Amino acid sequence: MRLLSARLIISLIVGITVVSLCTSYYQVLMQNRSMRKDLERRAEVLGESLARNVERDLERDAQTRLQRTVQQFANREHLAGLAVYDPQGHPIAVTTNLEPLMESAPPIVLGALKQNHATGAFLRMGIASIHIYALPLHNGDDLVGSLAIVHDSGYIRAESMRIWRETFLSALIHVVLIVLITLLIVRWSIAGPIARTASWIKALRTGRAVSARIKPVDMELFRPLAREVATMAESLNTARTAAEREARLRDSGESIWTAERLAVHVRSRLADGRLFVVSNREPYTHVQKGKSIEVNVPASGLVTALEPVLCACDGTWVAHGSGDADTETVDANDRLLVPPDDPHYTLRRVWLSKEEEEGYYYGFANEGLWPLCHIAHTRPLFRASDWNHYQEVNAKFAKALLEEMEGVRNPVVLVQDYHFALLPRMIKERRPDARLAIFWHIPWPNPEAFGICPWQKELIDGLLGADLIGFHIQAHCSNFLQTVDRIVESRIDWDHSTVQRLDHGTTVHPFAISVNSADLQTKLLRESAYEERASLLKSLGVRAALMGVGVDRLDYTKGILERFLAIERFLEKYQRYQGVFTFVQIGAPSRTHIKRYHDLQAEIEAEAERINWRFRSDQWKPIVLLERQHSHKEIEPYYRAADLCLVTSLHDGMNLVAKEFVATRQDERGVLILSCFTGAARELRDALQVNPYDIDQTAEAIRTALEMNAEEKQQRMQRMRKTIREQNVYRWAASLIGEVCDVRLESAGDNQFRASAVG
Ligand code: G6P
Repeated sequence: MRLLSARLIISLIVGITVVSLCTSYYQVLMQNRSMRKDLERRAEVLGESLARNVERDLERDAQTRLQRTVQQFANREHLAGLAVYDPQGHPIAVTTNLEPLMESAPPIVLGALKQNHATGAFLRMGIASIHIYALPLHNGDDLVGSLAIVHDSGYIRAESMRIWRETFLSALIHVVLIVLITLLIVRWSIAGPIARTASWIKALRTGRAVSARIKPVDMELFRPLAREVATMAESLNTARTAAEREARLRDSGESIWTAERLAVHVRSRLADGRLFVVSNREPYTHVQKGKSIEVNVPASGLVTALEPVLCACDGTWVAHGSGDADTETVDANDRLLVPPDDPHYTLRRVWLSKEEEEGYYYGFANEGLWPLCHIAHTRPLFRASDWNHYQEVNAKFAKALLEEMEGVRNPVVLVQDYHFALLPRMIKERRPDARLAIFWHIPWPNPEAFGICPWQKELIDGLLGADLIGFHIQAHCSNFLQTVDRIVESRIDWDHSTVQRLDHGTTVHPFAISVNSADLQTKLLRESAYEERASLLKSLGVRAALMGVGVDRLDYTKGILERFLAIERFLEKYQRYQGVFTFVQIGAPSRTHIKRYHDLQAEIEAEAERINWRFRSDQWKPIVLLERQHSHKEIEPYYRAADLCLVTSLHDGMNLVAKEFVATRQDERGVLILSCFTGAARELRDALQVNPYDIDQTAEAIRTALEMNAEEKQQRMQRMRKTIREQNVYRWAASLIGEVCDVRLESAGDNQFRASAVG
């Protein structure tokens, strides 16, 4: 930095000096020229005006008058004096002070006499600088002498000197000021930010300050660099944290799954194979924001779990391109590399027409299969046209996936959810060498319930194309096997949970999905839950001492209306909590294009309004309904600050909100009230489990939660947190992928053997 400053200063001094000198030189030149011209002009004018008088005096031979005239013009504003000569150049009259100089006619005077023509010149005589203008004098046509007008031109030189002096002084001041300002700018805007950035990078490198932040102004200066450095530092931090976590886990002998362990595990299991994931929702959506394109990352547990795996093995994710700028960000093969900041795997987008989306996604998947699989008393709608679109879209995804798999040896495919029940069979038929699993993220109902679907056989057949079918819990696996037993010709091994149909065997196992608990460890101190609660409620315009929270997609399976009724019952029954307890419902509008969802939203709003109207006071109301998509970051403070969290799904495959709430409660406080109809209820035994249809029971659970002593709360929370730490989302991915990698692909001989062994 010193060298830079010295170079900068020297360059500035040289630069400013050269510029000042050139300008001054030019200025002096111009000034000189104009002053000389002015002097010459004055001499000429004076000469013209005096010549007549002098000629008259010469004519009259009026020596004394002549001497008086020349004397009169001595020392008048730069005029040094006059001299009159006869035609031979002998002086006739000379201003006294000029006598020593002009005693004999200077050559210029002789020249004027000789040429009979006025002439002027600047001369140096001794130390004096003068200007002489000589003009011939006449009597009629006769040359009678010459008049010399002598000006002291020394003032022109003095003026030039003055300009040079001033230039020097002003250049000096400029140099000093500019150097000072430059030094300050260098210090404040370059050296300072560089030093701060360097210590920021150092802090990140050495891991001394994990949360170190760079100032926004510094960021501004190094914008292109800063983004790269920030990403690098973040990766470094993540790697360091992961290494520390691994070391801690090794040290404590715990076998907890982390993203890194999962990546290593999957790499070794896949060997030379490649992983393909298929889901309806994509991990990155591009959306138009004004004139630019923004990337949205959904707050999805699936992305958390599968991204490290895909990154580790350079996999491919096939999904519906639903962002309005998605088409603009793919290559000619509809592919792009993601994550956008640090590309590691391929996202292949599949485009759907409006009709396809309507029939496949809204229609068959969400108006048919969703209510069919969730026992929530919303009647499924089965339309033949939706079913046709569902088949077509499954075929479209199969085609895209097959294209991606072309030339890949040992592909491993993970299909996600109820949008793709037909896909496994379609793929297996074309690529029997692929190891294929489908994970069904929603419940599987009993055979009677499933039996109302007109295309149950096709759906089961499609699913049985997979080598492995995963559900969250054993009960869903059992329901599925019973459904298979009821609907299609197959051989079921109940002990091993396998189905043999035609030439192909399928294993059906539970894999409980979860959250990444490490991600949800925030740095909040015990005392601040109280403060955070107060400030959250204040921001919502409510005064209350106790707070409950619910976080859901606005879906009829989530039991939100039942939850509100329970809150009403609780306040009715335990009036002392009126004005004291407020419930914050964070609800993300979902699938609103479907009438049932659209109506539900209105019903939820009306119910909240009705209950609020019944109990509200000036600064308090029982229910705050926040209806919009919230990010994890926005939801976390509510989880941390709540006295209780209500999860009252009427039916739910797992429910990750319950797990997120527990994972967030580092303070080991807060009570989880959990519907017994969720998959999570099997693992989170320490939640207060309720039947959401039993309004009084849920109301009672709310009171129990609010009145539970701190010690019990802590013990329950500790046990639940342990479960979630151990059974995290990486374990889910590791078991699912591990098991599908273990699949032994059948040959004809195998099938024969297996058929007879099972039979
Ligand atoms: C459930 C499903 C997911 C689905 C999510 C959000 O959890 O199992 O597959 O992505 O709901 O629903 P959406 O229809 O918005 O994708």
